[in-house]
Parts: sequence; C-alpha cells; structure tokens
Amino acid sequence: AALAVVEPRGSGIGGGGFWLLHRESDGFQVMIDGRERAPLAASRDMYIESGGRRSRGSLDGPLSAAIPGVPAALEHLAEHYGRLPLARSLAPAIRLAEEGFEVDPYYRRYATFRLDALRRYPSTASVFLKDNKVPPLGHRVFQPQLARTLERIAAQGAAGFYAGKVADMLVEAVRAAGGIWTREDLAAYEVVERQPVVGRYGDMRVVSAAPPSAGGIALVTMLNILELYDPENLDEVTRTHLVIEAMRHAYHDRARYLGDPDHTVVPTARLAAADNAGRKRRHIDLDRATPSATLEAAADPTGSGGDTTHFSVIDKEGNRVAATLSINYPFGSGFMVPGTGVLLNDEMDDFSARPGEPNAYGLVGAEANAIAPGKRPLSSMTPTFLEAPGRIAVLGTPGGSRIITMVLLATLEFTQGGEAASMVSLPRFHHQYLPDRVVHEGDALKGPLRDELAARGHHLEVVGSGSGRYGNMQAVVWDLENGHIEAASDPRQGGAGIVR
Ligand code: DON
Repeated sequence: AALAVVEPRGSGIGGGGFWLLHRESDGFQVMIDGRERAPLAASRDMYIESGGRRSRGSLDGPLSAAIPGVPAALEHLAEHYGRLPLARSLAPAIRLAEEGFEVDPYYRRYATFRLDALRRYPSTASVFLKDNKVPPLGHRVFQPQLARTLERIAAQGAAGFYAGKVADMLVEAVRAAGGIWTREDLAAYEVVERQPVVGRYGDMRVVSAAPPSAGGIALVTMLNILELYDPENLDEVTRTHLVIEAMRHAYHDRARYLGDPDHTVVPTARLAAADNAGRKRRHIDLDRATPSATLEAAADPTGSGGDTTHFSVIDKEGNRVAATLSINYPFGSGFMVPGTGVLLNDEMDDFSARPGEPNAYGLVGAEANAIAPGKRPLSSMTPTFLEAPGRIAVLGTPGGSRIITMVLLATLEFTQGGEAASMVSLPRFHHQYLPDRVVHEGDALKGPLRDELAARGHHLEVVGSGSGRYGNMQAVVWDLENGHIEAASDPRQGGAGIVR
C-alpha cells in the first residue's frame, strides 16, 4: 500500500496484482489473484477502429482501465493472512499520501515518458505535475484525496472502494470521460485464490505465478527445456543460444494458449510438463536460430518499457511474500478520478485486441486472451519462490513482457550459487517469440559472443530506450544452513534491500 502511494508510476489502488504467499508453519502456498477484470460492457473488438487499426483507447484514458483488484486484495490479505488489521497496515500509506514524497530521477523519467497522458486530465496534472511540467527533483507530491480513500478502505475494507461514495465517484467520472464502468462492475469484483504453478529444475523446486499470469508456466517451460541439455557443460555461445531458443518456445506457447483460466481452458499441467519441453526439443537446433515465423506466422510489432512494482519479503519465521503489482503503463491510463486520488490502470492493453495484433509490449495473443466481459487480461508478472536444498529465494520484477525472462536469468544465476545482489544486477537479454529478435542490455551480449550468436541467425538489438537497461528486480535469499539472509534491490532503479 505504501508503494502504491510513493511509486504512482508503478502500481496503486487503481490497479491489480498477484501475491505469492508461503506460510512456514504448515508449508501452505497460494497465489492471491487481485488482477483487474474487464468491465461487463467490454467487448472483443472495442479497440479496433473502423479502418481496422488498433486505437490508443487501450492505453490512455478511462476506456483503458479495467476494474481494479488491489483494494479487494488488501482486505482479503489482511483478513486471511495478515497479522494486522487494515486500519494499522494502511497507516503508513495514509501518512505518506498526506505528508507527500519527494520526486526522484526515476519519477522524472517515467513522468516524461507519459507526459502527454498526465497533462490530459487536470485532476492528474495537478497532483503529478508542477505547472503542467515534469516536477523538478525534490518537489513534493501530496495526495490528500488518496489519503481519504485509503482511510475509507482502512475503516470499511473493500466496501470503502467498491461501494458507497467512492464507487459513485469512480463510475461517474469514468463514464463522463468516455469509459464504460458501472456500479455492477465494482460490486462484482472478486479476488481469487489460485494454486501456484510448481516445477523443478535439478533438485530445486520452483513455485511461481498461475494463470492469468503467463509467468509461472513460461518460467517452468524454459527450465524444463534447459534441463534436457545440461547447460552447464555447454560452451557459452551454445548455452546462450539455447536460453534464447527456450525463451522463444515458451513465449510461443504464451501467445497460443494462455489467458484467464476462468474464461478459457488453459492447459497448465500439460504446458508445464516435461514432455512439452521434450516435444520442443525437436524444433531446437543447437547451431542455428529457429525463425519464429516457422513456429507460426504473425505480425512484426514494436516493444516498449514501462513500470510496475515488485517487493519480496521473508519474515523471521520464514513466511514469505513475493508480490508484483501493476497499473500497467507508467502512471497507468493517466486518468485520476477527481475527488478520490485514484489513478486508474490501463491493464486492458494486456488483452490481445485482435489475434496476432501486438500490444504495447509487442506481445501477440490468441482467442484465449481476447477481451470478454469480466475477464482478466493475461499478465507476465512472475512473483516466484526458488526452493533449493539449503537455500530459498523470493524474487520478482516489473518489466512488461520481459519480466519472465528476467526471472529466468536470475533463477539460473541462483542455481549457480549466485547471491541476491548478482541475481538483481546481472546483464539481461530477452526473446519473446515475436518480434523475432533478441533485445539485450549492452553488456549482456557483446564481443565474440554477440558475433557468434548473430552468425547462428539471431537478430540482436541493444535495448533502445532511456538508460539502455531494464527491470527493477527485488530478491531475498535465505541460506538455511547458516541462517544468513541477503536482500537486494535492482541497481537500475534506486530501491534498497533491508535485513533487520
Ligand atoms: O501484467 C503485466 O504483464 C503488465 N501489465 C506488467 C507491466 C509492467 O511490468 C510495466 N513495467 N515495466
């Protein structure tokens, strides 16, 4: 809740998320699905314009906003798994909203990226901009209206958001600005408890996000493929090539099969099974990149970055939380509901607006992820536990479509004995089936390794925007043998790991 106040670029009570939980006393593990849902008036082609093009309606303004899940999840978590009542656990968030927080370089970067959307609505601009411009470093952002809404949730639980005065204000403002929410949408929102996706890699157990996230299935599929080859004994070029091919195949499955399991049949067990990887092995050539077009034809899209929020926790009893929360694009839809302080998400863009049509992250999807009333858009958020003999890790990151491959690379680092600090900082590369290219940080693939990969047929591209880096991973590693705990925050975005 505090992150929702001080990282408005990443998450908020106007958004959704997944909380992966582990209870040490009995080993119980669950994923709390607080993902947004499409409004009941949503329809399959709502973002297709008359000329057949996809509109920006899924990214900007209230039509892009799905029904938020975070307020309901906060109540559910406090009621079933928390030690503190909401009135106490939300107090720091309320204080931060009231007393303000200071603009840092990351805030400025993302506000610059989303400046047009933030300027469009006076309610948003008055809170997040200064004189309609990106505020200078050190400027304080005050959110008194958000503090009032959080107080209502603290006092009434989810009803403080989905019913009564706040609900009236949400629905009225969304509709007045071109959106389609109704009171019924808010009343119908429900959190779902889901069984995490579980896989193995060597003697390590991997516990990760279930659908409607693609994260767990894709992560386990990639690990299953790698395990067929004994990657540690391959030379560096072949090993990197293989990791890229594993990424390609897992994202191909994502595009074909994945969506909201409450609306479409998602073959989770089949996809995460070892023999799925075995079948893919026939389509992997250790000497040549397999063109994605030969897996299945589709469009050539462009990708982009954004933001989301992740945190990882282990407490003194060994209970764990990996939570990834999102309003999708930086500052979500850019639409703040007047009087409430609630900045709405633009998570509708995570649906595939049309089969084969890429979204903001360049992801394509099929019928399984088509828009339907009440449906949850497919996500890449991958909160994960790694349980190796003698060592436990809790991890996750924002980063749109690249989330899953970031978690994969960190997982491989962990299996090599890597510490939290190296898991969050190691240079990254990514393939997502389409577009058929490897995007990478400059120092991830360079020199002869890069040349060799190009010679094997890979199209390589240094990540374009901003700093040339991506992600914001948070990891905690617990060494069960000596009791040592290490917490690390991605050096790319100014967070901090705390052990106390
Ligand atoms: O759920 C998803 O996959 C996306 N909405 C996450 C967006 C994200 O991570 C943006 N950060 N770069």
